[in-house]
Amino acid sequence: MVSARNSIAHLNLGRHFDAIQQATKSIELAAAKTAAIGKSSELSQALRSLGSLPADERRETSKAANTAQSLISAVIKAREVELEGAELDARLQAEHVDLTLPARPRRKGSVHPTMQVMDEMIALFADMGFAVAEGPDIEDDFHNFTALNFPPKHPAREMHDTFFLRPDPETGERKVLRTHTSPVQVRTMMTQKPPIRIIAPGRTFRKDSDATHTPMFHQVEGLVIDRDIHMGHLKWTLETFVARFFEVDGVDARFRPHHFPFTEPSAEMDIRCDRSGGELKLNTGDSWMEILGCGMVHPNVLRNCGIDPDEYQGFAFGMGVDRLAMLKYGIPDLRPMFEADTRWLAHYGFSAFAAPNPASGLS
Ligand code: DAH
Repeated sequence: MVSARNSIAHLNLGRHFDAIQQATKSIELAAAKTAAIGKSSELSQALRSLGSLPADERRETSKAANTAQSLISAVIKAREVELEGAELDARLQAEHVDLTLPARPRRKGSVHPTMQVMDEMIALFADMGFAVAEGPDIEDDFHNFTALNFPPKHPAREMHDTFFLRPDPETGERKVLRTHTSPVQVRTMMTQKPPIRIIAPGRTFRKDSDATHTPMFHQVEGLVIDRDIHMGHLKWTLETFVARFFEVDGVDARFRPHHFPFTEPSAEMDIRCDRSGGELKLNTGDSWMEILGCGMVHPNVLRNCGIDPDEYQGFAFGMGVDRLAMLKYGIPDLRPMFEADTRWLAHYGFSAFAAPNPASGLS
């Protein structure tokens, strides 16, 4: 009869050590492990049959079999660690991403010129100490007209080509889509105490559509209220802003008398330019280009907003953002600005990484 011990010696365990060492993948190692010490391996079977051996042989055989089993287990463990390390290295190698490579511009979005110019204006006025104020797109008659000194039935209300909403069934009140950002002046003066220095950028709406008008457009409004404010402050602020906006040392500007119900005196600001040769050149030539409306806040407006005009004065201004974007970036027609044509945006849009600020430059 072949003894159990002999049967272990005859198991030829050496081939298992070879298989374990030669395994190059976890799955191969797992197979070698099953063959060597798995439940149906010869070694396990030998261990299970120990009971049938005579007592003296049993001890020795059991010792030999257990030693063999723990030796094989240790070798498997060591090989597992090696393989895991090698597999991790291979994966890291395969999944390596070079973060220094430039990103591939597959789907490139861009910043709309109106928003770019809006940001430029905010950056410049913020640098001059102005805060940003906001108001709703849907306004009531009081904030859009009455408080701003538009008399009832005054033709100026018609001039604005107002979009009226349906009358409120209970009060009969007709709200409007704001025709200008000036109602934000009113909201600011009614809630803040002077000194006030704000700009109000935002959307505005008028029933109008041609090459230079769209039913929705953008304005930036400005308002300064304090003691002893006069036209000189207005002139310096606007000339400084316009020069910085167009990135020139100074502008040749004129203030032409005009009428707005909410300012007295009122003016439009023109800058000298040359339009010959299809190109716009600033500060030279015999043409004047109107770029904004402005004036000293009308005492009635101050009173309507609870500010005493004998104590405080102020100036205000309003300008079209889209129009200034067209002028600055040579965009010939206003209408495509709001057609959301991606080819137009790819041509006229700005990189999102080129956010304007007065320190690193605007454009
Ligand atoms: N609200 C005027 C408009 O929509 C623009 C404007 C002109 C605003 C003069 C002002 C101002 O604050 O003083 O055309």
